Amino acid sequence: MSNTSTVSIAAQLPKDFLWGFATASFQIEGSTNADGRGKSIWDDFSKEPGKTLDGRDGDVATDSYKLWKEDIALLKQYGVKSYRFSIAWSRIIPLGGRGDPINHDGIQWYSNFIDELLANGIIPFVTLYHWDLPQGLHDRYGGWLNKEIVKDFAHYARVCFEAFGDRVKHCDSLRVSMDRLTMNEPWCISVLGYGRGVFAPGRSSDRERSPTGDSSTEPWIVGHHVILSHAHAVKVYREEFKARQGGQIGITLNGDWAVPYDDSPANVEAAQHALDVAIGWYADPIYLGCYPEYMKQMLGERLPDFAPDEWAVVKGSSDFYGMNTYTTNLTKAGGDDEFQGKVEYTFTRPDGTQLGTQAHCAWLQTYPQGFRDRYQKPIYVTENGFAVKDEHNMPVEQALHDVDRVEYFQGMTAALLAAAVEDGVDIKAYFPWSLLDNFEWADGYVTRFGVTYVDYETQRRYPKDSAKFLTKKQKPTTDDS
Ligand code: NOJ
Repeated sequence: MSNTSTVSIAAQLPKDFLWGFATASFQIEGSTNADGRGKSIWDDFSKEPGKTLDGRDGDVATDSYKLWKEDIALLKQYGVKSYRFSIAWSRIIPLGGRGDPINHDGIQWYSNFIDELLANGIIPFVTLYHWDLPQGLHDRYGGWLNKEIVKDFAHYARVCFEAFGDRVKHCDSLRVSMDRLTMNEPWCISVLGYGRGVFAPGRSSDRERSPTGDSSTEPWIVGHHVILSHAHAVKVYREEFKARQGGQIGITLNGDWAVPYDDSPANVEAAQHALDVAIGWYADPIYLGCYPEYMKQMLGERLPDFAPDEWAVVKGSSDFYGMNTYTTNLTKAGGDDEFQGKVEYTFTRPDGTQLGTQAHCAWLQTYPQGFRDRYQKPIYVTENGFAVKDEHNMPVEQALHDVDRVEYFQGMTAALLAAAVEDGVDIKAYFPWSLLDNFEWADGYVTRFGVTYVDYETQRRYPKDSAKFLTKKQKPTTDDS
């Protein structure tokens, strides 16, 4: 079989390597009132003055609920093997809970979507939760703050496995199994939603504003419930569906790296503390069955522990290491921000030079790192991407030549290849973020991560140079298998 649709990096990687682009429901779908969808916590939050940089919400986004066939045609044009997207919980169960009605129109929409992907030879890679919690659950019992959510999330997961898992037989004809993710970036769910208050539902545990200290427990409680919810969804999958549906299940974590500012012992330790909170908070319980010592020491009783039967469900609850990785921070000892391990971050080296090229958002600079983890699991890189500075102010012709993004992906794909091919790191998937410019949460539409430019007036899509770089065709190769 002649295979002309392989990207340059994929051509050098194992045949079953999954690559494609990633998106998330609330960031692209729009049509927030269509077909019985319930509200998510982002609906009203994004409409509150001051919550998004440009004052714009997610009601239309990239209009992908309507333009889904066009999006799939674009994926096909890019020659991807897989597509990572998320399901909006409130389209499936509008009010969210296990006693609430199921919305068959919502299920039908995603069914059609998955069928169309498969008809185009694209393997669906589904995320069950990418931050759009049903508002109904937040109103009913405080959403992630209440342990009730563990049962409701497991129920929602079961409904999805039942509704979409049968498609696995079609995947068989593509000779792969369909893998799935429970949650996306729990650090953001907990810290940005319940600690810093910049994401929905906008709760802030700033101790100065909360002298009782009460809310400074919230992010850690939320994290606890997120881990348990993930683990119970995995249990449902393994016990009730895995034998029939095959495939892998896991979670994806923030994977930004930390490197000591210099080799002073305090700064070397700071890097470890930063990683303990940024990654170990979730990864250590899930992969190792314990919390990092540093987190226990830093938080004392504010870090909820799991009961022995809960640990039994949590430990080992991810088949792979899902990594969303964007950048690397230089770490210095000092500071009292618990959410980054009481460590200071900088991109400026001791000699005054910058680590890399600055992105539009302050937290991101180019810095190709190693794609390695310490949990001895296959790695799925489920996000990796760059927002070009001021791209939203450029005429489209200029924005399409996204030199900094191309440079970013050159570095990242070279690092990926070095890890996977030269060092034998078991990397199984690579999903650059994002297929399209889209609703970038608190940044509104100001920050653009897409490899495809979206003109929000017309909803027309234009491939940028980065899309061309990532989807570059190889000379036809022979694949006899
Ligand atoms: C990670 C999140 O999963 C995604 O939703 C977001 O758009 C990107 N980071 C870029 O900030």
